[in-house]
Amino acid sequence: MIQLTKKEILIRDIEPNETDIAVKIFKKESFELVDLFWNSNVSLTFISHFEWICTSIVCCLIGYFTESITYIMFTVISCYIIRYFQILRCYMTYCSDTVKTEMTDIINSFVNEDGCCFKVAVFDGEVIGTVAVRKYASNPKGRTAELLRMYVTKKYQRRGVGSRLLDVARDYCVTYGYENLVLKTTVGNVKSTNFYVRYGFNELQKIMESGVVTAIYWMSLKKEDKQNI
Ligand SMILES: CC(C)(COP(=O)(O)OP(=O)(O)OC[C@H]1O[C@@H](n2cnc3c(N)ncnc32)[C@H](O)[C@@H]1OP(=O)(O)O)[C@@H](O)C(=O)NCCC(=O)NCCS
Repeated sequence: MIQLTKKEILIRDIEPNETDIAVKIFKKESFELVDLFWNSNVSLTFISHFEWICTSIVCCLIGYFTESITYIMFTVISCYIIRYFQILRCYMTYCSDTVKTEMTDIINSFVNEDGCCFKVAVFDGEVIGTVAVRKYASNPKGRTAELLRMYVTKKYQRRGVGSRLLDVARDYCVTYGYENLVLKTTVGNVKSTNFYVRYGFNELQKIMESGVVTAIYWMSLKKEDKQNI
């Protein structure tokens, strides 16, 4: 994949007329979570993927011995369809909660807010990526920033855009005086995990958030690599 050069990608503050595009990119690119949730053994719904597989095998065995395969297969397929829709609902709730709490007023919540920013990557006049920074809520010292909304549209992924966005977000944090940068990502998200680790983030801990195993990653912004959160 040909990397886009620094000259080709413009990274700047989001403009008021681009907030809808940022929401659209967020919804579209985070749809990958559906796949992730589907393959997760965590019980996002009332039963986990692993339990569904076991249930299906047991149902098939019962069907084999009772010779009522059609009925049992119908039960298994129905269960899977229900699980898929439950996961879809989880994803939609996550999206609407995020949009409600963080993205309804991007300009006032990020651009005009002290210690926060919302940047977009523009290529050929088109917004192709986003990233945001805000004060990390659970740090009383106020010296830790949280990285959010790191998304690059599928067509431009793996071309250096994410790294450029992260460079700009990191520079913003250093200039503002933050000493640490943290972020959360879903465990099992190979793209984001590789991306952050490659950039120099270290895993701090895993937590459970709304039934999803989430990893917190951390990086020091100080020259001397001292943890301060
Ligand atoms: C994660 C994401 C922002 C990365 O952006 P990007 O522009 O594709 O990243 P870059 O091109 O700068 O990649 C830098 C490095 O990250 C790693 N990486 C990026 N995408 C990867 C992938 N699909 N698989 C494995 N490693 C990947 C690689 O090490 C890559 O370096 P390389 O191409 O020289 O091997 C982008 O894939 C994305 O938007 N994903 C969907 C949304 C998401 O998961 N966001 C994170 C939410 S916490």
